[in-house]
Amino acid sequence: MCGINGYSGHRRAAEVIMEGLKRLEYRGYDSAGVAMVEDGRLVLVKRQGELEVLKGVVPRFEGRTGLGHTRWATCGRPSDRNAHPFLSCDGKLAIVHNGIIENYTVLKTRLETEGHHFTSETDTEVLIHLLEGHYHGDLRQALADTVEDIQGTYAIAAVCEGGTEIVAARKENPLVVGLGVNENFLASDVTAFLSYTNKVLYIMDGETVSLTPTGVKVYDSQGELVKREPSLITWSAEDAQKGGFEHFMLKEIFEGPNAIHNTMLGALDMIENGEILSRTDFQTVKVVACGSSFHAAMVGKYALEEFAGVPTTLELASEYRYSPGAREAPLVILITQSGETADTLAAAREARRRGCRTLAVTNVVGSTITREVDEVMYTRAGPEIGVAATKTFLTQLLAMYLLSIRIGYAKGTLSHDSMRGALSSLRQSSNMVQSVLNHVHEIEEASRMIDSAQHCFFIGRNINYPTMLEGALKLKEISYIHAEGFAAGELKHGPLALLDSSTPVIAVAIKGDHTYEKMLANISEVAARDSPVLGVGSEGDTELARLCERMIFVPQVKPVFSPIPVTVALQILSYYVAKRRGCSIDKPKNLAKSVTVE
Ligand code: F6R
Repeated sequence: MCGINGYSGHRRAAEVIMEGLKRLEYRGYDSAGVAMVEDGRLVLVKRQGELEVLKGVVPRFEGRTGLGHTRWATCGRPSDRNAHPFLSCDGKLAIVHNGIIENYTVLKTRLETEGHHFTSETDTEVLIHLLEGHYHGDLRQALADTVEDIQGTYAIAAVCEGGTEIVAARKENPLVVGLGVNENFLASDVTAFLSYTNKVLYIMDGETVSLTPTGVKVYDSQGELVKREPSLITWSAEDAQKGGFEHFMLKEIFEGPNAIHNTMLGALDMIENGEILSRTDFQTVKVVACGSSFHAAMVGKYALEEFAGVPTTLELASEYRYSPGAREAPLVILITQSGETADTLAAAREARRRGCRTLAVTNVVGSTITREVDEVMYTRAGPEIGVAATKTFLTQLLAMYLLSIRIGYAKGTLSHDSMRGALSSLRQSSNMVQSVLNHVHEIEEASRMIDSAQHCFFIGRNINYPTMLEGALKLKEISYIHAEGFAAGELKHGPLALLDSSTPVIAVAIKGDHTYEKMLANISEVAARDSPVLGVGSEGDTELARLCERMIFVPQVKPVFSPIPVTVALQILSYYVAKRRGCSIDKPKNLAKSVTVE
């Protein structure tokens, strides 16, 4: 996720763009840059770091047309040279991009042979060289030809020296035009220009757009002009940053399908070509993490054992760093969305000190953990503002499935057909999440059962035991209700003593899982203690529904992948309970997004 901002009009473009980038910073903040048409020539300034760094070095530009970008690195670590915009070899064109270009390595090789000079490690840079090749005086046509060459997802904007035109194209990444009087705006979202205009044109997938101070033209993928009525925005700038959602947390839950899609795009080739974990000659694996990331690690243990048959142990990073460390597992996987958690960083150092190979799963390109480990696998969820992990947790699950399938295939536990079968089921996970999101209001209704509880249990078995630990963590951190997750088989070893009619129990039982019948028995035990049971199960499961007071249904999936839809349902559940209780959802008390101290 990155932020794009363009302006063409009668004001000083740099001022308008810097202001817009500030509002788009939630989309990325590891580097930023601007390209201005200044006395007919293109001038570029870009820097690694937050926008403040750029502010300190941008001179007083007088130009009235320009582009800006705030970056969240996905391909190529944060650095001055990987920051956007990029200039063509002749310095006459500039481009900014948000998204992932899948076929960039092939394109880069071809463009280099044709004589184009590359200066960065990004996928984006191929776009400017392609554009340069296609440009013969019509910038919009050149961009339309450029997008024909690429595979992947994008919002792209480009500008040319000597002109006042900005052109843009989109596929699966947002782009919106703001309509002013003798000025027009372009951005990843309306927040960037809402203080100037609330009249907007949303650009759709496959379309290209050309804007100058006096006109905006939108074209479809066949090059035909599109007629579209502008929309009027009635939100405030803060609401707009949240895309119309009341909280970042809900917005980020709804970004789940896209986060999964991007993570798959980024990792599939690497998994299939064995570029991640080039050596798989280890016999055992240890997974180390904190908090929600530890729950993803637990799901990962089940997946590693199921797909790869590799004995896997788990350790909390805060324990691992001080543990005796005898007979270490040769591969240690460290999961941390921020890449900055102090305990996980210390654990990574400790693992290397013990002579283990280390692999980090993280969402932040260039974060500290990436410098502490042998290999990195990135999740591509985009920045997460809400303190509670939602979309990043989903992509951690995905990463663990992908790694497990990779190891299983490399070790011969999975045949080629089974590997492809597993990957193809996993490809459906973004749809699975979407179908849970389509039932958000039913989950909202079901969650009312928990509103007045003081204590709440989450129970599950097998691969959904960690899912329920995560469900309990989410509920307690944002709603402040005391919630505990249990392996359902453990209830009779103590926790049953706490159950009565005032303690709701959320229980997951997935049809087809080999522990399904056991879960039904556990649910009956709970119901016999008068606890109200909220069941989470597969669509159409009347057997489970008969035992529960209320139900949340998730799509039917292979049980091994069920933590994906179940997690999303539980995130929505916690969100609505916390909302009705008036809690500070995006910033729960006493918590921070990134725990950089011990
Ligand atoms: C809970 C949550 C935390 C983090 C934990 C580890 O919603 O977000 O429990 O999972 O602090 O953070 P990372 O993954 O950044 O190491």
